[in-house]
Amino acid sequence: MKNFIQKLPKAELHLHIEGSFEPELMFALAQRNKIEIPYKSIEEVKEAYKFSCLQDFLNIYYAGASVLINEQDFYELTMAYFTHCHEENIVHTEIMFDPQTHTERGIAFETVINGIQRARNEAHEKWNISSLLIMSYLRHLSEEAAFETLKQSLPYKHLIKAVGLDSSENGNPPSKFYNVFEASAKEGYVLLAHAGEEGPAEYVWEAIDGLKIVRIDHGNNCLTDDKLVAEIIKRDMALTVCPLSNLELKVVTDLKQHPLKTMLNKGIKATVNSDDPAYFGGYLNQNFIAIQEALNLSKEDLVVLAKNSFQYSLLDENSKTELMNLVDEYALKN
Ligand code: ADE
Ligand code: ZN
Repeated sequence: MKNFIQKLPKAELHLHIEGSFEPELMFALAQRNKIEIPYKSIEEVKEAYKFSCLQDFLNIYYAGASVLINEQDFYELTMAYFTHCHEENIVHTEIMFDPQTHTERGIAFETVINGIQRARNEAHEKWNISSLLIMSYLRHLSEEAAFETLKQSLPYKHLIKAVGLDSSENGNPPSKFYNVFEASAKEGYVLLAHAGEEGPAEYVWEAIDGLKIVRIDHGNNCLTDDKLVAEIIKRDMALTVCPLSNLELKVVTDLKQHPLKTMLNKGIKATVNSDDPAYFGGYLNQNFIAIQEALNLSKEDLVVLAKNSFQYSLLDENSKTELMNLVDEYALKN
């Protein structure tokens, strides 16, 4: 199964680039940029990665991102992630970045996006990995701040496919951002959002009806509302599910209790993703391996998940078909 997963062509649809920041690179950049971090060693950093909830994780994630200063830093961060993609047969990825995590500290939007973009170009040339960018608004900040970020993004509109919504979910419902999502759609951005990770099914309703998103990040708590499940299926919307993230952030207590198989059985189009791999103990293949073992998923289930990752990507229809055919060919031979 591990070998089957390793070689399976796949896409990743839910990945925060700041969440792929490995402690080794964090230490190197802290030194290079002469920034103090509250850890003496890489072991101490890893020791701190024990979370009781989303907020607990976010506090450490934002602190880690504070050593990213120069374009070269964002380039190295993104290139390190693409190296994992290359090693794991991820042929397409949709990368989220949080501009406000950086602009709030005085780093220019331009610095962030230019570093990421240089890595995207290089990964495409070197490894033929395609990628799209998702600019995520931080929901613990105001809608006004999100509007400012939207404005800053406009000179780089050609590089950004979609907008997303992430950070502290409870207490920051999608309804806080209806206006900026409407304005983002007018600028041509596709709309996505985290919903139902820790927040209730009500937030997922707001995200699909109010924000008018086309794909749901996490969405676990939709399962508490049968009407919502039926609606998600009717609208043919996918969920980007993140098994190891759910385990580490205590969204589930045990991977054996993870709802992924239930989702598939109900007819929900789920995909598997790593979310913040440097913090949650594994990149995409490790997520596939862990959830396959926990839920005893079959090769057929894995093929469905890989095909969903292409079908519900933001690629054009021809590319989707081509990549889904690649999975079918692989399944026939393996
Ligand atoms: N930012 C990075 N990872 C996140 C997650 N899992 N939920 C919300 N915001 C995030
Ligand atoms: Zn996420």
